[in-house]
Amino acid sequence: MSKLRYLLIGLVLLIGTRGVILLSSKSSSQLPYPESVNASGKVEEVNLVAEVGTTSISPDQQLTVWSYNNQVPGPEIRITKGDTLKIHFTNKLPQETTIHFHGIRVPNAMDGVPGVTQDPIKPGESFTYEFTPKDAGTFWYHPHVRGSEQVERGLYGVIVVEDPQEPTYDQDKVVVLDDWRLDQNSQLDERFNTGHDLMHDGRWGNFITVNGTSNYVLDAQAGERIRLRFVNTSNARVYKLDFGDLKVLGFAVDGMLARETFNAQGFELAPGNRLDVDVSIPMVSSAKPFIIRDTFTRQSNTLVTLKIDDIATEATSVEAPLAQIFPDWTSTTKKTIDKEYRLNARRGGPFGIQWTINDKAYPDYDPITLKQGTYNVIRFTNESYRLHPMHLHGQFFKVLTRNGKAVDEPFLRDTVLIKSEETVDIGLMPLDKGDWVNHCHALEHAEAGMMTVVKVE
Ligand code: C2O
Ligand code: CU
Repeated sequence: MSKLRYLLIGLVLLIGTRGVILLSSKSSSQLPYPESVNASGKVEEVNLVAEVGTTSISPDQQLTVWSYNNQVPGPEIRITKGDTLKIHFTNKLPQETTIHFHGIRVPNAMDGVPGVTQDPIKPGESFTYEFTPKDAGTFWYHPHVRGSEQVERGLYGVIVVEDPQEPTYDQDKVVVLDDWRLDQNSQLDERFNTGHDLMHDGRWGNFITVNGTSNYVLDAQAGERIRLRFVNTSNARVYKLDFGDLKVLGFAVDGMLARETFNAQGFELAPGNRLDVDVSIPMVSSAKPFIIRDTFTRQSNTLVTLKIDDIATEATSVEAPLAQIFPDWTSTTKKTIDKEYRLNARRGGPFGIQWTINDKAYPDYDPITLKQGTYNVIRFTNESYRLHPMHLHGQFFKVLTRNGKAVDEPFLRDTVLIKSEETVDIGLMPLDKGDWVNHCHALEHAEAGMMTVVKVE
């Protein structure tokens, strides 16, 4: 081989590894989360069937629903970090569907977005989803076809990825919040995407269930420590969590561990959001149960009733797990805005109203391209009066400012609630390549166009 060829090969090797070196050393303080995971080689296989069925949302109330494996919520899937999840999915619905794994960093082809990452799965057809989650935490799955109808009808479930290095709590429970809109016959109101819902904050129901029931009671022992994993699967309702007298610490949001524990009292859980909290049950039993409430609207709603038995001799001691890697991005890290998304509405489209991002309504959109491993600041400007929980697939970000004021949330998110006429800046460093949608998780808004694509190269 000539010297020139050696030189060329050397150059290729140098350039080829440069990206890796940059990511792992020079800018490591800025890395938001690990780039990859060590696969254990173990494969967990799960069969999921989407079908029409019934569920009881209270002792005397049967509801016709669409669900996974005839359960609402769908089966709770728990795997260990490093394990591969293989989902054999069959569509027995009268409509096309897909499954999206909200918050899990999957290979792009497994993201479940029709027209972007896969073809819709027709009635009677099957599809196999397979991936190895890169992060441990609380995630969920739901269709990405006609979401405003399919999720409302009951298609959603939770995926928990456990990390054996995290401490074990006395109890580890998911708390899945959903609201249904029932008609006079106490059945699901089948008028989806109404003009009223589209013009306002999407479909808010009149019947709230927690883990599929209207009266969710959790029995606990005095002195226990409990990990609660809240998931908001509602089409559009926001919950503001009021823990009353309970001692509660937040330590993860949207599946990702936080930099430090934080006060979870008053946390606003928008559609799509998750929150993991550490609950300390007092040492003495109390006749009165503890109540966890939602206080987002004027009418407060009971979510969880915690009944405490016994008197403990010893309290469990655990320390909440925290992030190993956490970026030090703040609003002073970088001043320039790389991309801006203006959120608004206009007349037109199949529903008579369209929700737009930069004046385009999906399937019309201007994709943006971000470079893998590069830090970006993105601005959301809400030019409307409505609530928009904006969700970015495949990436996590940090909120930097709200209406120009610096904020330093000690956690990352995959969904951020943007309120009436609010401007929110987020920082992100994409690590996962592919075409990822960015949309409003008020599912009626998404249905009416509020969706775009971010290409990570
Ligand atoms: Cu849970 Cu595209 O969303
Ligand atoms: Cu919206």
